[in-house]
Amino acid sequence: MRVQLVPPGTGELTYEIRNIVNVAEKLQKCGVTINWENIGDPIVKGEQIPAWMKQIVSDAVMDNDSWGYCHTRGVLKTREFICETTNRRAGAQITPDDIIFFNGLGDAIAKVYGCLKPEARVLMPSPSYTTHTLGEVGHAGTDSLHFRLNPEDGWKPDMVEMRSQIENNPSICAIMIINPDNPTGMVYSKELLQQIVALADEFGLFVISDEVYNNIVYNGETTVPISDVIGSVPAIALKGISKEFPWPGSRCGWIEVYNGQNDDQFRKYINLILTSKMNEVCSTTLPQVVIPAIMQHPQYQDYLKERIALYEKSSNITYNFLKKVPELLVNRTNGAFYMAVAFKEGVLNNSQSLLIPDNDVRSLVESLVNQPGVSPDKRFVYYTLAATGICTVPLSSFATSQQGFRVTLLERNPAETERIYSTLADTIRQYLKSSV
Ligand SMILES: Cc1ncc(COP(=O)(O)O)c(C=O)c1O
Repeated sequence: MRVQLVPPGTGELTYEIRNIVNVAEKLQKCGVTINWENIGDPIVKGEQIPAWMKQIVSDAVMDNDSWGYCHTRGVLKTREFICETTNRRAGAQITPDDIIFFNGLGDAIAKVYGCLKPEARVLMPSPSYTTHTLGEVGHAGTDSLHFRLNPEDGWKPDMVEMRSQIENNPSICAIMIINPDNPTGMVYSKELLQQIVALADEFGLFVISDEVYNNIVYNGETTVPISDVIGSVPAIALKGISKEFPWPGSRCGWIEVYNGQNDDQFRKYINLILTSKMNEVCSTTLPQVVIPAIMQHPQYQDYLKERIALYEKSSNITYNFLKKVPELLVNRTNGAFYMAVAFKEGVLNNSQSLLIPDNDVRSLVESLVNQPGVSPDKRFVYYTLAATGICTVPLSSFATSQQGFRVTLLERNPAETERIYSTLADTIRQYLKSSV
């Protein structure tokens, strides 16, 4: 090409959560049974949607209005309902005009970063959910700026590094957090959130808080939405129904804008996000229409509680098996449905492997892991997948150099969860011992 088409550093970005699926599918063809512990889709893991919820959706389908375009910002009645829910907490107060619906948070994330000028950078957690990192790096055309979530401190953010990054990079315009966090399952305390808001205030930044897992917390935790502590600092919260209903296939999520009028630059930026949505007319109407009826249904809270209890159980089973492996840094998760497990420094190397009896499977894995530049945790994940069928994701694919893996906590049968994680713990021990 006469002209370079992609920004430097972005051409090789991959989305490992999906890439690993291609490999697992090839292994399936070779006869390996796969446990899908890689992707955060409760439906794939057999979640049964209750009949009452399906009834609400099918009633909405029979109404012609759900077939039309809606307002660019989203269905007004639904925005009013969401607005009341947020305002009732007595933190940041919003109007329906401070809410914009998107076709899933994936769409919202793309626009939130895409509408910033390339020089305006968002400080990201590391590790981080890939869609955020890819969105930010894609818009800036250069490496991400991040603060570390520390596996030796329950994956809490390194606040010293956060401050120093902000001080040293005048291009940083915002701090992004995911609360509860993907991939670590860490839940931010109110104090941490207050410190983050104070930093944003001190340096004239805004805050982006991805709260898609906000109502999925356990082990006695509660989540504090950023709206509770934001004061007068401009902020965007991202919320959705993919994980909570759960309806990931609805492609429906929204942003709530706090203090949208407090800064002229921020007001123009939000207006640009709205204009880019206007270009598409609106987001899908049907899932928006059913949100108030589903969330207010008498069985909704019990259904959510039941699912959360399952994630709590699954999390604690996973924690109890993996914490017995001394070479791992394992933290209890308190929210969302993921656990990030780190290997201690120096325990992985590129001569470790596992016995794979099937010749086709072995040669497939060896051809993949022996390519130049494959990270040690990716090698571990591929060997484990081929030897046991347990499909995890390398932690290094979540914008971190920290070696490890991420699993989901969505398995519905506790006996199967026990089998998976006792197998995984044994496999890790074997793998680490296999160094030549
Ligand atoms: C932290 C986080 N934000 C956003 C999303 C995307 O959600 P959606 O299905 O609404 O695009 C995910 C999906 O896994 C996620 O983990």
